[in-house]
Formats: sequence, C-alpha cells, structure tokens
Amino acid sequence: MTDASGAPRLTLLRGDITEQQVDAIVNAANSSLLGGGGVDGAIHRRGGPEILKECRALRASHYGRGLPTGQAVATTAGRLPARWVIHTVGPVFSASEDRSALLADCHRNSLLVADELGAQAIAFPAISTGVYRWPVEDAAVIALRTVSQSPTRVEEIRFVLFDDRALAAFQQAADSLGLSAN
Ligand code: APR
Repeated sequence: MTDASGAPRLTLLRGDITEQQVDAIVNAANSSLLGGGGVDGAIHRRGGPEILKECRALRASHYGRGLPTGQAVATTAGRLPARWVIHTVGPVFSASEDRSALLADCHRNSLLVADELGAQAIAFPAISTGVYRWPVEDAAVIALRTVSQSPTRVEEIRFVLFDDRALAAFQQAADSLGLSAN
C-alpha cells in the first residue's frame, strides 16, 4: 500500500534480498547477464537455472552485446519467493568521472519495468556498492532521491541492505532527503 500522500511506502531493512516476499527483486547484475558474485550470485544460486535460461534468451534476442549500464530487464525469479527478477547493471564507481546519472537510471528503469510487469512491491539491493566500489553513503542518496522522484504505480519499495553500515547509510540518506522510511 502507499503512504498517506499516495507515494510508495519506503522500507529500509537489513536482510537477504533472495528471501524477500515481494513481486520483484532487483539484481545488481553485470552486462553479460550471465551471473557473477554478490547479489547476482545469490539470486542465481537460490533462484535456480530458470533465471539463467531466460537471461541467455535475452542475450540471444535483444541484448546480443550485453545489457547496457543503467538499463533494466526482467526474468522469472525461478525458485525465489518473488515472481520476477529485474536485472540492472550499475556503473562501476569512478573518482574521475561522475556516473551518478547511470546509477539513477538503474533505479528509474527498474521501476519502469516493475510498472510494466504490474509489480506492487519491489526490493532493491544497494546497487554498485560492492564489487563496483561505489561509496554506499553516496549511492544511498542517489538511490533514494531517484525512487522518491520517479512516478510509479509500485506501492512498496524496499531497500534490503546486507550489512549494518549500508543500512545506516540508507537511514541517514532518507533523513537528509526528508523521506519517511520504516
Ligand atoms: N542480499 C542483499 N544485498 C546483498 C546480498 C544479498 N544476498 N549479497 C550482497 N549484497 C550487497 C553487497 O553487500 C553490496 O552492498 O549488495 C550490494 C551490491 O554488491 P554487489 O553484489 O557486489 O553488486 P555491485 O557492486 O553492483 O557489482 C556488480 O558484481 O556480483 C557481481 O555480477 C555482478 O559483475 C557484477 C558486479
């Protein structure tokens, strides 16, 4: 359900995104769509081969050169509690080049895909803050600002953080943006 103003309800929690009982979970993928470590590895490991099978089909049909950074695409969630996985490719952090717009695109485009699917509840990880080395404090502001400014029919947006530092960063970012999150 949405909050009193009709905006999506925002939830920040520490946990494992593969366990979330939501319609869609977002995967911090790489452009190959063929799996990896971190969130990507956990989703494929627990979701099973159906996810990779659909990722391969996407590579063979629409994304022969891989999914571009910032874009998002959906597959089945396989054996996971969710119905869909929305794969998006975060930007690798760069100290010399501002790639913030691409990280914002990941969130905006994931919500667009969620709306196309009719998903009511979606869970995001802290995209780009692991292997791609984006400072989590900065990524949290970009993520929360983007979802708070993106028109969407999604009613619940969860950020599922894997450690206390990430959770604290998102709580701090929500406070600094004046967003109510539970
Ligand atoms: N649930 C929620 N969050 C998780 C989980 C999980 N099961 N596993 C890891 N995380 C967190 C990490 O702690 C980090 O904060 O997800 C965040 C993103 O980290 P990565 O998974 O490393 O993703 P990213 O930094 O976007 O790098 C993407 O890593 O795994 C590869 O194939 C992937 O090449 C791609 C790259």
